Amino acid sequence: MPVLEINARQLSVQSGELLLDALLAQGVAVPHSCRAGSCHACLVQCTAGELDDPAPELLNPQHYAQGWRLACQCRIVGDAQLALFDPRHAAIPATVERCTVLAGDVLHLELSPQQGLRFQPGQHVQLYVGGVVRPYSLACLPGTGLLALHIDISHAGAMSQQLRQIGVGDSVHVGMVHGGALGYRSEWQGQPLILLASGTGLAPLWSALLAAEQAQHGDPVQLLFVGDDCYWQAELAALAARWPVFTWAQVPRPQWPQALADMQLVSRRAHALVCGSDHFVQAVSKRLFLAGLPRRQLHCEAFLQPKTPE
Ligand code: FES
Repeated sequence: MPVLEINARQLSVQSGELLLDALLAQGVAVPHSCRAGSCHACLVQCTAGELDDPAPELLNPQHYAQGWRLACQCRIVGDAQLALFDPRHAAIPATVERCTVLAGDVLHLELSPQQGLRFQPGQHVQLYVGGVVRPYSLACLPGTGLLALHIDISHAGAMSQQLRQIGVGDSVHVGMVHGGALGYRSEWQGQPLILLASGTGLAPLWSALLAAEQAQHGDPVQLLFVGDDCYWQAELAALAARWPVFTWAQVPRPQWPQALADMQLVSRRAHALVCGSDHFVQAVSKRLFLAGLPRRQLHCEAFLQPKTPE
């Protein structure tokens, strides 16, 4: 029977068992959420021994080489020494510079990390607050010294509870950056862009919009925001005022099914960026595909759906 060493404990476990299940069953409190390799909440560091990891590409090569693994993906194959990801030592402290609750109970959080964080528009960062960890899309450009997040705190989850109590000057931690399906690419110059967001799915698209504006994208850029309250209305209006190719519209949820059915493609050369719930992303993807958009020009990301209660 393999033995895992973690937090000064020795645990006898079954070979072939999923690492996350084995640790949780023995009372090791491993943060976790999606169980699908997306949220990166379940990071553990393997300092000796081996784990069977069927999806090493989910971590960046540098972190992988340092022994970081996703407990929800790895299976136990023998003895191993492990360490949990401890944000106090392995993540970057950051100070809350701004926390404003916007329309629809969306929290606009701005953080100044104590050291630079390298990221690309469209990527996510791990946010650690009061022992809770969740990944959030970065809604800003790199190089400003600030990290901006749009977080839906309307639900009664553990992170929402933490964030409702947070204030300017408080300290949090930010961890690894990952993902990036929704970034802007310079080779898209000369092609129209269509962006569709539901709720805080706007966050990564906002960073893509800022990157496209910075790159002086010259073809039409259209954003459709689906939701009853557009929490980012003033910023979108300001962007449209200063960037002539950009237009945007809001579709309230009751009108969304008809708007989706009526959706036409401006050009088959367009690139579409879509972010929202799984259901939203699937419905939009299907509609755009039926309207003639080639799959390689469709860039989607769905919100994580936690598989365990928060
Ligand atoms: S990546 Fe493992 S729980 Fe989300």
